[in-house]
Amino acid sequence: MPAKMLDGPKVASLINAETAEEVKALTQAGLRPGLAAVLVGNDPASEVYVRSKTKACDELNIYSEKITPPADVTTEKMLQLVRELNAREDIDGILIQLPLPRPLNTERILMEVLPAKDVDGFHPLNVGFLSTQRPGLVPCTPMGCIELLRRSGIPIEKQDAVVVGRSDIVGKPMAMLLTNANATVTLCHSKTKDLIGMCKRADILVVAMGRAGTITKEHVKIGATVVDVGINRVADPEEFKRLFAGNAKREDSFARHGYTLAGDCHPNVAEVASVMSPVPGGVGPLTIAMLMSNTVKAAKMRRGVHLKTTVGVGY
Ligand code: GUN
Repeated sequence: MPAKMLDGPKVASLINAETAEEVKALTQAGLRPGLAAVLVGNDPASEVYVRSKTKACDELNIYSEKITPPADVTTEKMLQLVRELNAREDIDGILIQLPLPRPLNTERILMEVLPAKDVDGFHPLNVGFLSTQRPGLVPCTPMGCIELLRRSGIPIEKQDAVVVGRSDIVGKPMAMLLTNANATVTLCHSKTKDLIGMCKRADILVVAMGRAGTITKEHVKIGATVVDVGINRVADPEEFKRLFAGNAKREDSFARHGYTLAGDCHPNVAEVASVMSPVPGGVGPLTIAMLMSNTVKAAKMRRGVHLKTTVGVGY
């Protein structure tokens, strides 16, 4: 029986409805949450991401401001901008859309963001809070994966979990969150000796390596839950054929657009997994939902408001 597909948009809209309630309560108390999104230059993919983030703010009635410095902005100017946003009372969250253009010092700029406003959870202080299970701001995509599992009724405690990919944004915090949720976690990466053997042990396999269709049914234990975090643009006809030959819907879309979006899992993973998150329609919408909930969380923490919270509890 093919794997049951997790419904990312449905879970995201449940979370967004809860966040909207919290925004309403804060706004009534005169504390409307605000997010500043900084987009440097004109990378088309980043423009799409930032647009969907500010659109989500509009839908949830979160104040948002898009700041668009030119591609040749200096690191000093960026540091000054971040300091101004840090000092603003109406801004609770600061998001620096990555990647930044080449000569900019990304490390220095990200470090300048006040940890209390770091809604991406990238600052080392927030990384430390996560690792020691203290309250803080947690990276959005891995937190979204946990919420997707939790709200789909997939148990995490006592499960063997394998994460493929050790990025600071997804893989490492994902391993930490699963550990905090009492899974037994193995973190694999490009230098892992026996990737297939490691993956095959997983009850929960989270794949975040950024290479289309790399994880195949050979990597997956029968009955496992697979969360595919990859979003890859496949434009090469040979690669398209390897992944989607015979899939009429994909073939039609590829013919019309010249590319398709594929996860890190080959479609044949669905033959052995019992549950999996599709691409698109899986983790993507959760990332934005968690950014919204982090903005509200940042507002509440900074202003010492104690409202009932249902998103991201206990991690
Ligand atoms: N670029 C790709 N993913 C992300 C993310 O999660 N946050 C930010 N700020 N930029 C990104």
